[in-house]
Amino acid sequence: MLGYNSVLITFIIALNGLFSANCRNVLILLGDDAGFETQVYNNSVCQTPNLDQLAKIGLVFNNAYTSVSSCSPSRSVIMSGLPQHQNGMYGLHQDEHHFMSFDQVQSLPLLLRKADIRTGIIGKKHVGPESVYPYDYAQTEENNSILKVGRNITHMKLLVREFLNQNKSRPFFLYIGFHDPHRCGHTNPEYGSFCQWFGNGSQGMGLIPDWKPVVYDLDKVTVPYFVQDTPAAREDIAAQYTTISRLDQGVGLILDELKQAGQLDDTLIIYTSDNGISFPNGRTNLYDSGMAEPFIVSSPYHKQRWGQTSSAMVSLVDIVPTVLDWFSIQYPNYTLLKHPAQLTGKSLLPVLKAEPQSGFDTVYASHNLHEVTMYYPMRVVRDRNFKLIHNMNFRMPFPIDQDFYISPTFQDLLNRTRGKEPLNWYKTLEKYYYRDQWELYDVQNDTMELKNLANSSDAHIKEVFVQMRQKLLQWQNLTSDPWICSPGSVLEDEGNYKLTPQCMSMDNKV
Ligand SMILES: *[C@@H]1O[C@H](CO)[C@@H](O)[C@H](O)[C@H]1NC(C)=O
Ligand SMILES: *[C@@H]1O[C@H](CO)[C@@H](O)[C@H](O)[C@H]1NC(C)=O
Ligand SMILES: *[C@@H]1O[C@H](CO)[C@@H](O)[C@H](O)[C@H]1NC(C)=O
Ligand SMILES: *[C@@H]1O[C@H](CO)[C@@H](O)[C@H](O)[C@H]1NC(C)=O
Ligand SMILES: *[C@@H]1O[C@H](CO)[C@@H](O)[C@H](O)[C@H]1NC(C)=O
Ligand SMILES: *[C@@H]1O[C@H](CO)[C@@H](O)[C@H](O)[C@H]1NC(C)=O
Ligand SMILES: *[C@@H]1O[C@H](CO)[C@@H](O)[C@H](O)[C@H]1NC(C)=O
Ligand SMILES: *[C@@H]1O[C@H](CO)[C@@H](O)[C@H](O)[C@H]1NC(C)=O
Ligand SMILES: *[C@@H]1O[C@H](CO)[C@@H](O)[C@H](O)[C@H]1NC(C)=O
Ligand SMILES: *[C@@H]1O[C@H](CO)[C@@H](O)[C@H](O)[C@H]1NC(C)=O
Repeated sequence: MLGYNSVLITFIIALNGLFSANCRNVLILLGDDAGFETQVYNNSVCQTPNLDQLAKIGLVFNNAYTSVSSCSPSRSVIMSGLPQHQNGMYGLHQDEHHFMSFDQVQSLPLLLRKADIRTGIIGKKHVGPESVYPYDYAQTEENNSILKVGRNITHMKLLVREFLNQNKSRPFFLYIGFHDPHRCGHTNPEYGSFCQWFGNGSQGMGLIPDWKPVVYDLDKVTVPYFVQDTPAAREDIAAQYTTISRLDQGVGLILDELKQAGQLDDTLIIYTSDNGISFPNGRTNLYDSGMAEPFIVSSPYHKQRWGQTSSAMVSLVDIVPTVLDWFSIQYPNYTLLKHPAQLTGKSLLPVLKAEPQSGFDTVYASHNLHEVTMYYPMRVVRDRNFKLIHNMNFRMPFPIDQDFYISPTFQDLLNRTRGKEPLNWYKTLEKYYYRDQWELYDVQNDTMELKNLANSSDAHIKEVFVQMRQKLLQWQNLTSDPWICSPGSVLEDEGNYKLTPQCMSMDNKV
């Protein structure tokens, strides 16, 4: 009887997969540290004709946010739908950092594989273990040069073609991890600070046949408000733009492959980035400059909103529910960190039909490390008017990563600070390093997040603070955050406290 039942269930699941999937595919295009350097977001200098075209056949989100502004943690969220503190990827995955998601995590590639959808990843993966994030087709940094699979757009195009030609009858999920526009000075300085010369055909650079390099004049670039306006920073931005234009041409080549394969009309395409740009206040920060992301969703079945913008507040935790919804797959019931694992993100398919009247007004974020030395746990809740940041390790200076430290922009800040020269920046290094435990910003009136209202005596602001703090705590509880009691107390939830888990004070004065 049991045998018969399970055969029947398997049969029903198989049928479900067959009919609901209906050859509808998903393509994720992920920039590496990409920001708003595109006409799609009104940057008229950086040339991105292919992203502009994607925006014309998609919906552009003006309020999208990453759940964590660090590479591996963010990728683990994109692929698992669970915040970094819940899936275990607390920091960078490679080399000595070696962070991993928990073995029990039911990730997107796992769930899709079970539903008989073929999965592929080309370019930067940067998450593990393999058993949690398995792909049927994988050409990543794990067994290739990252420059080849992540920046050589001709090579990437050929890999996409190879993937699309395999097992064609089954629907697919393809994840493209561009390595552009990531910095390069820390690993491959010979190619320039952003690898902007790699493959440009000049002596020793090799050639990327499909790439037509776009060079930018440092006097013309748009300096974001959170970066100092100096020649060194401008030159750095110009180099970044060149690699964004390369990514953009790669997007064009890949969409063309999709078209050639006859799949453009049944594929959901999502373009976004993992974290903030690698400039001060960007990557590793949860100010809006590090947390806001470009986000374009193109669906062939939702033409009614093509070319429009949405102001829904969305998060990268929404990608998993969206893809599961697209394929009509249910998220399984299982336990993680002693609690039922549940997705806190929402499917964005309804937003592709019509602008939501409610339900998309709050996002959360959670950061622990980046490199292994960079312990700086933060928890954030942001709505349309306010943002609350909890810096748990606020007594320590904010850490700087190896890649960013060596960058011309940061070196310029250091040199100018040491030489007591004007910074042309909206902060000082002192202010950047030393943060308050609680930061509350009026993000409508203070978009640069400079005036911390956490100690305000204004009754309304005080009430906002109390409510947001409560909301943040509830979300930490819902997502089984081990840091829920930090830094002032210790969570006791076993033995005598198994039924009454609680935060017990350390009397450490924070
Ligand atoms: C870009 O500019 C247009 C026209 O001024 C405006 O409607 C739109 O909101 C802007 N987009 C962003 C992302 O700021
Ligand atoms: C195609 O199917 C073969 C045989 O089942 C399998 O080994 C391979 O991984 C599949 N490739 C993709 C991209 O699904
Ligand atoms: C990388 O590993 C995958 C299997 O995970 C294999 O299919 C692929 O051919 C390998 N690529 C290289 C360049 O070795
Ligand atoms: C190509 O790279 C070289 C550095 O090797 C650089 O001098 C040159 O300006 C670059 N050309 C273009 C078109 O970017
Ligand atoms: C890029 O990839 C193409 C196709 O594999 C190859 O011919 C070319 O040499 C590569 N260029 C670089 C700079 O690696
Ligand atoms: C998980 O449990 C809930 C509540 O019991 C149920 O509604 C849902 O269908 C279950 N999901 C799966 C995939 O079994
Ligand atoms: C922004 O400032 C205006 C004018 O001072 C004030 O009326 C408004 O309430 C402020 N917005 C928020 C969200 O506090
Ligand atoms: C910073 O100063 C050092 C030492 O004087 C110098 O080598 C470097 O070029 C300077 N960097 C920038 C970006 O100004
Ligand atoms: C708020 O008060 C705390 C505790 O007195 C203090 O450490 C912090 O610097 C204050 N923050 C602001 C923005 O005034
Ligand atoms: C989390 O929520 C549960 C259920 O509401 C509650 O029993 C528990 O005390 C909360 N834990 C913490 C640490 O707030």
